[in-house]
This record gives sequence, C-alpha cells and structure tokens, in this order.
Amino acid sequence: MNKNVLLIIGGGIAAYKSLELIRLLAKAGVKTRAILTKAGSEFVTPLSVAALTGEKVYDDLFSLTDEVEMGHIELSRSADLVVVAPATADLLAKAANGLANDLASTTLLATDKKVLYAPAMNVRMWEHAAVQRNVAQLKKDGALFVGPDEGEMACGEFGFGRMAEPDAICGAILAQLKNGPLLGKKIIVTAGPTIEAIDPVRYLSNKSSGKQGYAIAAALANLGADVQLVSGPVSLSNPSGVTVTRVESAAEMLNACEKNLPADAAVCVAAVADWRPDTQADKKIKKGANNNVPQLKLIENPDILAILAKAGNRRPRLVVGFAAETEKVEEHAKAKLTKKNCDWIVANDVSGDVMGGDENEVTIYSKNGAQKFTRMGKEEVARQLAQEIAKVLTA
Ligand code: CTP
Repeated sequence: MNKNVLLIIGGGIAAYKSLELIRLLAKAGVKTRAILTKAGSEFVTPLSVAALTGEKVYDDLFSLTDEVEMGHIELSRSADLVVVAPATADLLAKAANGLANDLASTTLLATDKKVLYAPAMNVRMWEHAAVQRNVAQLKKDGALFVGPDEGEMACGEFGFGRMAEPDAICGAILAQLKNGPLLGKKIIVTAGPTIEAIDPVRYLSNKSSGKQGYAIAAALANLGADVQLVSGPVSLSNPSGVTVTRVESAAEMLNACEKNLPADAAVCVAAVADWRPDTQADKKIKKGANNNVPQLKLIENPDILAILAKAGNRRPRLVVGFAAETEKVEEHAKAKLTKKNCDWIVANDVSGDVMGGDENEVTIYSKNGAQKFTRMGKEEVARQLAQEIAKVLTA
C-alpha cells in the first residue's frame, strides 16, 4: 500500500503507543510524517519519532526552515489521511472550535483530508460534557474516531479513556486508505487447522500452519477487499487491514463464517479437521487402574466449504476450496469441485514439504478447465490468486 499518513502526536502517556503505530503502518507499507506537539514531546522524544518515521519531525509553526522546506499548509495536504493519536481533550477542543495557535491545531484547520482521532484521557475527562460536546461536533464535521477503550488507566482509574491499541488504530487507518479493484467487496477466508477437543487438555488437529490462508487474506485486503479471516489456532500475527476472528473447532469456524454472510466470495483455505470425537469429556480422562486405552468414537465435522457453496440465495458469488492431496491430485480435485458445489478448487500436492513450508505449487480447477501455476512462494501464490478472484468479482 503506497500511502502517506500525517500523525499528530498529542501530550498524553499513551504517546508511547504511537511509536508502535508508526512501526505497524510501516509494515503495511504506509509512510508516516509526524507532528509532535510541545506536550507530546514531554512523553516521546523527537529523535525516536524521527528514527521510526525515517522523516524529519515537525513541531514548530513559526520555524522558518520548516516553512521553506514544507509549509504547514502543504504538510496538512501531503498525506492521504491525518491521524491524531493520542488525541487529548485539549486537541479535541481546539479542533472542534477551530482554534489555530500551534502547528498541530493549524494543520487540523488547514487540511482538506479526513481526520481520524484516537482519544486518550482520564475517564472523568472523557465523560465530561465539554469533551462529549467537542466529540459530537467533530463527528458532525466528518471526523472519524477509533476508541477510546475501556480499561485500567495510567492514573489508576478504570473506565473509558484508554487510547485504542496500536493494531486497532492501524486497522482503522488501513480501512480508510484502502483502494483497489476489490473495494466494497466482502470476502470470507478460512485458514489454519481446527482443533477438536477430546477432553480439556487433549485434542485432535493437523499440521496446517495457516501461512497460505493468511497470505491470501493479506493479498485480497491489498486489493481493497473487506476481508473477514476466520482462523483456527496458528502462531501468525494478524495480517494488516484484515478483520480476524479466532476460533478453535470446526463448529466455531462454521458459525463465524455464517455470521459473515452475505459475502461476495468465500475462500476456504482452512485444513478443517474432518472428524471430531463424538463426546468431549469435561474432565481430563485418567488412565485408570488397568491402564486402559480409551476408545475414541469419531463423528464427521460439518463441511464448511460445502455449506457455504449451498447457502441458497446467501451463497457467495465465488466459492473457492483448496484440496491438499498426496496422490491423484487432478482426479481428487475434480471430484471435490462437483461434490462440494464450489466454483474453483485450488489443488496442491502436499506429499512433499508444502505443509508448514514457504512454497506452494497450485492448479485452479473450475468447470472451465485447469490453470496451472509454477512453484512459487506462498505470498506470490496468494497475490496471483487474489488477482484471479478480482477478475471474477469485477467482471
Ligand atoms: N473443508 C471445509 N470443511 C471441512 C472439510 C474441508 O471447509 N469440514 C474445505 C477445506 O477448507 C478445503 C476443502 O474443503 O477448501 C477440501 O478439503 P479436504 O480436507 O482436502 O477435503 P475433504 O473433503 O475433507 O476430503 P479428503 O480429506 O478425503 O481429501
């Protein structure tokens, strides 16, 4: 994502979180230029902000050198989005009332871009009628808000006023900056394994790492889609710009997918456990006197892909399944295409090092034939698949 954000860092203890925000934005390909208010510089240093943004930090309205290099008007317009984090009661009051007595407030008045505020203050301050009046006015003027969250505060009190976490602010920013052919399209992606409990400490599962599904979710989000990633337990961090619902069992995964209907497409990459124990013991199963081996009776899990593909008028326009096979790849893939009523089966041969590895070699089977891709990194597979999906959804 080749975008720019102007970040105004106000004076609050939460200012340290804006450093993490800059890092997360950089990871998502978003460049940050920062204005550090005088109060903000009491909490984070201009040097740390400059080191993370890789840019000069702006702090003075009347700096002759800054005005020559980049005037405050240009600064306010050079970004795709203006973000105020932490947005203090003072900054909100200035912005709501059109005051312009320092660089931050002048920039907020001069900008022609959307402004996203991440408020951070004491709970009593947040609840104060004056602050709520200012927030209402800013919303009426078209401003966006993320948070504040409820929780324990640095001052020891509890309630609403904590700044939203950096990943939530980053998600709100990326949602605003999105563009691409899939803008306005909602896509469900399932990824990772599921785990099926035997008792509170034991389960059945498989070796899926979730890498391919996560890469597809990220690639679709990069093309502007509203991606709802339903993920089994994996050790991957949430891809930026993607909404993630974490689940454990197949039943939970199905439930989360159905909650996301209607959707324009569903891409089922998850290695859903085919079976689950027919009962889950609510206490740990003990070995017993004779060291008896417990006999597990397995029952079939719901087939999420097939259910989504048969969802009647709620069926996504494009339903994509994956087939991980160790033999007769084409034969099995074609059989799954028919049996599960999906539009594509993306087949891969997992007899080698694909599961858990970084590369994949896939073929898309559809009723129109087969499209084979060469072996490549899972991220490149994801990019190419996302483009193929975009072609269908924009046709
Ligand atoms: N799938 C699903 N729900 C299940 C099982 C599979 O959504 N309970 C989806 C997978 O996400 C994948 C596709 O179905 O997109 C194929 O899964 P796979 O396990 O290869 O196929 P199965 O139908 O389970 O057949 P088999 O295990 O015999 O190969």
